[in-house]
Amino acid sequence: MRERVVVLDFGGQYNQLIARRVREAGVYSELIPHDAPLSRIQGESLSAIILTGGPDSVYAEGAKTCDNAIFSLGIPVLGICYGMQYLAKVFGGEIASAEIREYGHTNIRFSDHPLFRGLGSAVWMNHNDSVTKEPKGFSSIASTAACPVAAFADEERKLYGIQFHAEVTHTENGQRLFENFLKQICALRCDYSASNLKDELIAQIRAQVGNKRVIGALSGGVDSSVASVLVHEAVGDQLTCIFVDHGLLRENEADEVMRVYHDTLSLNIIKVDARQRFLKKLAGVVEPERKRKIIGEEFIRVFEEESKKLGGGEFLLQGTIYPDVIESGTSSASTIKSHHNVGGLPKDIGFTGLVEPLRMLFKDEVRALGESIGIPHELVWRQPFPGPGLAIRVLGDVTEEKLQILRRSDFIFREEIKNSGLAEAIWQYFTVFTGMRSVGVMGDLRTYDYVIGVRAVTSTDAMTVEWAEIPYPVLRRISERIIGEVPHVNRVVYDITSKPPGTIEWE
Ligand code: XMP
Repeated sequence: MRERVVVLDFGGQYNQLIARRVREAGVYSELIPHDAPLSRIQGESLSAIILTGGPDSVYAEGAKTCDNAIFSLGIPVLGICYGMQYLAKVFGGEIASAEIREYGHTNIRFSDHPLFRGLGSAVWMNHNDSVTKEPKGFSSIASTAACPVAAFADEERKLYGIQFHAEVTHTENGQRLFENFLKQICALRCDYSASNLKDELIAQIRAQVGNKRVIGALSGGVDSSVASVLVHEAVGDQLTCIFVDHGLLRENEADEVMRVYHDTLSLNIIKVDARQRFLKKLAGVVEPERKRKIIGEEFIRVFEEESKKLGGGEFLLQGTIYPDVIESGTSSASTIKSHHNVGGLPKDIGFTGLVEPLRMLFKDEVRALGESIGIPHELVWRQPFPGPGLAIRVLGDVTEEKLQILRRSDFIFREEIKNSGLAEAIWQYFTVFTGMRSVGVMGDLRTYDYVIGVRAVTSTDAMTVEWAEIPYPVLRRISERIIGEVPHVNRVVYDITSKPPGTIEWE
């Protein structure tokens, strides 16, 4: 039976991270809403439950709760932050609001408890309320200057609470806490690894698809590639992939994508040349959201037409991954940008079912799985590239001339990053056609030409990013090469904006 940990989501900002940490510790985990019914929590197997942090105060009206029957299942429970306070409330402890919020790196004193083996003395705190008296049957097992009960345990009932956030990297060796909880306290095998999922996923795909046809859109990105290779292994040439060249790709990208998929991975793939179609639709359009909408809609039209030509498919393959599933199940924050991922094709375009083999995996797991099924390393570790492509990196209206300048400068930038060995340390790096023109001087002559923006960021999830500190000599070479080699560019600027307040893409 598979070991499975349920992470009950009480609304904290680090909750996906908790589910990832559990998987990194070798146990399959699911993040599900706090008010999920007991049957869903129990599922086919249940090894442990983790209660997450959250923004509420446990005594507040409407504070989030869960089905307290989980505490009678005899399954170990770990409460984190709000989760700990919730445990305290349910079992009759006392919680009080502190005058000063305990926030940031905090020194902690641990008692000699297996939960804390290997941790450092600095943890990450972020709370107003804290437990002031542990419930009956519990004992305090850690304290800080502001928080006498920074962790507690009821060994009898196997209930544990920690006030700090072990899931964030700011907690020294925080990952050890999850390993200790799962191995020492829950006595689990911890043998889950995404790279071993191949056979199981292939069996599931075969059972779902039978001898029907599957059609999928391949973007060249990691998720759609891994999903396609899996389905291809499962049902062979029952899968047809469609690759839409919308003309908004990087230099040589369409050819490279076709070469890898067709020659290296032996996929049954059709390239559709829709370059003129997209450019025509985009002509004169300046507003970023309009551009995204046009590209998204046109993509669907092209895909629809091509799949009809193939006689229709019974199943649509999508590269949906777990964060998409989690986020679509919650009321998400305001729309900053509408993302038209090819993974977001609407269901109502004539397919009877969806095949989503990666829907329970996080991005790093998709990568591990991808490598284990023989997808080339460079493809698996490709930097993310947005569905609307270069259109959202040309500020203002999109023309072929601007795209050419952008492609050329982007190629040089990528080549220099690769040559300087920085490629895997940087999350995304690309150039932007700013549309601005400025005056310069080249070979004694006045120039009045375009300004190219250079963008490079570090991140682990694209939610927050830092601009990358590329060494000056590398920046110098990039600037000299772009100005020297790309006609109509006479100035290069480096974007030093983090996210927030900026976003990664300029549009
Ligand atoms: P922003 O610019 O919002 O981007 O900080 C976050 C991440 O998402 C990518 N991105 C997109 N991906 N379709 C996609 O598939 C889109 O419309 C889209 N817009 C942005 C962006 O490259 C970054 O990785």
